[in-house]
Amino acid sequence: MGRYLVTGGAGYVGSHLVHALADRGDAVVVLDDLRQGHRAAVPAGAELVVADLADARRLEEVFAAWRFDAVFHFAALSLVGESMRAPLRYIVENVGNSLRLAEAAVRAGCLRFVLSSTAALFGDPETVPIEEGARLAPTSAYGESKLMVETGLDWAGRVHGLRSACLRYFNAAGADPAGRTGEDHEPETHLVPLAIGAALGTRPPLTVFGDDYPTPDGTCIRDYIHVTDLADAHLRVLARLGEGSCRYNLGTGTGYSVKQVIEAVERIGGRPVPHGYGPRRAGDPAVLVAGSAKLRRETGWAPRFGTLDDIVRTAWSWHEAHPRGFGDRGAATPAG
Ligand SMILES: NC(=O)c1ccc[n+]([C@@H]2O[C@H](COP(=O)([O-])OP(=O)(O)OC[C@H]3O[C@@H](n4cnc5c(N)ncnc54)[C@H](O)[C@@H]3O)[C@@H](O)[C@H]2O)c1
Repeated sequence: MGRYLVTGGAGYVGSHLVHALADRGDAVVVLDDLRQGHRAAVPAGAELVVADLADARRLEEVFAAWRFDAVFHFAALSLVGESMRAPLRYIVENVGNSLRLAEAAVRAGCLRFVLSSTAALFGDPETVPIEEGARLAPTSAYGESKLMVETGLDWAGRVHGLRSACLRYFNAAGADPAGRTGEDHEPETHLVPLAIGAALGTRPPLTVFGDDYPTPDGTCIRDYIHVTDLADAHLRVLARLGEGSCRYNLGTGTGYSVKQVIEAVERIGGRPVPHGYGPRRAGDPAVLVAGSAKLRRETGWAPRFGTLDDIVRTAWSWHEAHPRGFGDRGAATPAG
C-alpha cells in the first residue's frame, strides 16, 4: 500500500487511475481545480484538494501535509487547436506547472513521477506504427509543451535522481466498466463521446473532418486505448520505476477509422449517428497508430479491453446512464 498524489485526478483519465489505486487499497490525494474535473469522479475514500497547480503555496502545503510514494501528473491544458491560438499560454502553463510540481516533489524527497504525455510529441510521423524511439517533432504548441516537460524531467533525473515515466498516450477512450466514472469534457473534442452524444441527441450532429485521406475509407485512422487499460499501464509502470526512468507509447497497435467508430456506435447503441462531412483540420495526420512493444515487453502490459466494441460498449453505457455527464455544469450549459 502506498500514498499517491494525482494532479488532475478529477478529470477523465486521472479519475480512472484514482479508482484503480483506491481499488487496490492505496491512499490517494487528488489535486484538481475542477476546471474540467468533477467532484463526483473522485471516489469517496480519496482526498480531494481543490486548488490550481499554479498556486505554489497550496502545493507546498500538500507536500507538507502528506508523504507521497509517487506523483501522477495529469493536470494540463490539452486541446491541440486551442494551443495553436494561444501557444504561449500552453507553454507557460503546462511547462511551468509541471516543472514546479516536479521541483516540489524533489524538495519533499518524492522521487517517482509519472507524466501524462502524448502522441502529439511525434507530430506527423515518418512511419506507422510509431515506435517508441521514433523522432520527436511536435507540430503543435501542446505537443511541444509536453516535450519541454519531458526534457525538464530528464534533467531532474540526471541531477536530483528523480525517476520519471513519460507515458505518451494515443487516444484515450471508453469508460470505467463498473460505471463509476466516464468522459465529460466541455468543450468535448473527442470522437467517441461526440458520436455517442449525437446518437443520444444530447449533442449536435457530428462533423467528420475530411473523407479524402489516403486511408481505405478516406477518414483518419487513430489508435484508441481503453481508459481502464491506460490506468492499468500506469500501475505497471509505477512498479517498474524502481529500475529507472522510462518512456513508453500507450496505444494498442490497432487503428480504427472515423467511419469505423461511427459504425460501431450505431451497431452497439442501436441508433443512427447523425453526421456530416467538413474539410480536413489543419495538422491532422492520416494515420496515428502506436508501436508499444517496449511497454508490453518491459511491463507485461496487454489491453484487456482491446477491441473497438469494448471501448464503445463501456462509453455508451456511461453516457446513456449520464446524459448530462456528471451534471455539475449548471442548467444553462449543454449536457455532456
Ligand atoms: N484524453 C486523451 O486522449 C489524452 C491523450 C494524450 C494525452 N492526454 C493527457 O492526459 C492528461 C489527462 O487528460 P484528460 O483527457 O483526462 O483531461 P481532463 O481535462 O479530463 O483532465 C485534466 C484534469 O486536470 C485539471 N486541471 C487542469 N489544469 C489544472 C490546474 N492548473 N490546476 C489544477 N487542476 C487542473 C482539470 O480540472 C481536469 O480535471 C492531460 O495531461 C492530457 O494532456 C490525454
